[in-house]
Amino acid sequence: MAVLVTGGAGYIGSHTAVALHESGRRVVLLDDLSNASSAAVDAVRGLTTPDLAFVEGDAADIDLVGRAMDEHGVDEVVHFAASKSVEESVREPLAYFRNNLGSVLGVLAAMEAREVRRLVFSSSCTVYGEPDDVPVTESSPTGAVNPYGWTKLHGEQLLRAVADAGGLDVMLLRYFNPIGAHPSGAIGEDPTGIPTNLVPILLQVASGRREWLQVFGGDYDTTDGSAVRDYLHVVDLAEAHVAALDALSAHPGATAVNLGTGRGHSVLEVVALAAEVVGHPIAHEVVGRRPGDAERIWADPSLAAEVLGWTAERDLRTMLEDHWRWCEAHPDGFVGARADLDP
Ligand SMILES: NC(=O)c1ccc[n+]([C@@H]2O[C@H](COP(=O)([O-])OP(=O)(O)OC[C@H]3O[C@@H](n4cnc5c(N)ncnc54)[C@H](O)[C@@H]3O)[C@@H](O)[C@H]2O)c1
Repeated sequence: MAVLVTGGAGYIGSHTAVALHESGRRVVLLDDLSNASSAAVDAVRGLTTPDLAFVEGDAADIDLVGRAMDEHGVDEVVHFAASKSVEESVREPLAYFRNNLGSVLGVLAAMEAREVRRLVFSSSCTVYGEPDDVPVTESSPTGAVNPYGWTKLHGEQLLRAVADAGGLDVMLLRYFNPIGAHPSGAIGEDPTGIPTNLVPILLQVASGRREWLQVFGGDYDTTDGSAVRDYLHVVDLAEAHVAALDALSAHPGATAVNLGTGRGHSVLEVVALAAEVVGHPIAHEVVGRRPGDAERIWADPSLAAEVLGWTAERDLRTMLEDHWRWCEAHPDGFVGARADLDP
């Protein structure tokens, strides 16, 4: 039997495909390549097996997903496929609701028709909006502050309803801030267009591709005034998906689980440590707050330890070192890999 990984050519999907393969599973990737390159699939094959299956297409296409499941004997699914830019979701809410919920519906319909009931869903700490209290637990109030966040909350609700009706066992994994890359440097985050999250921008400045970093907000009520986030190594996150699939039989129905380290780091702390990792200062300037940014958010990860038997192991320095190794080997992402630095 096999596991279907939708969005498997993307950042988190590609790392999870490697972890799933290492767990002994046969992996089938499905991706429409709307935010990924086929070179990512080749790189995953390089880290796993040359005959790893890849289906190109839309996860909302019930027939396509169903055919992929039949052809490869799929009996469990990890669903990453979604659009993920907060800014874009504000400009194009309909496209976000259509893609992020349409793909959930497509996968669910194909699963239901084959009585496949084991699913792991990519949710996000964005479902907590701007929390009043930290650390955030799974019972903290939810409420999104942008269309992307709503697609994740509605996705969770939809999956809960199907699970409550007895048709599904699902882990709703609420990721905090994944960064880093596979230690080989062979796969990593390859944003198409201009990245909007801290570490890819920071490392573009470090490599001279961008002049300086804007740090949004220097007057928050935190140790140094900059915002605080719970950064999590993408390989730790990938391993959590394996643990989540393994935990499903003991936890039927729908279970929401935070995936974070339980430790917050300020933006300026990340900038300072990244400068140490790359070996030179990184130009940055503190500017005004960005609307919709939470002041500080980090996870209470105790339920993940209890339900999944999983705890994040890699520290911030390792995250930045691994992310930097990927950036140095692939200055222009998968397309622009430098042969001399490739592992
Ligand atoms: N990266 C983060 O910081 C973060 C945080 C919380 C949650 N998430 C969620 O995790 C998941 C993966 O995120 P990522 O960072 O790897 O993003 P990503 O864009 O790198 O990966 C998503 C992949 O899904 C594919 N895709 C999108 N719509 C599709 C569709 N309809 N059919 C088939 N493929 C489709 C894209 O081509 C891409 O390869 C997403 O659901 C995202 O919302 C990400």
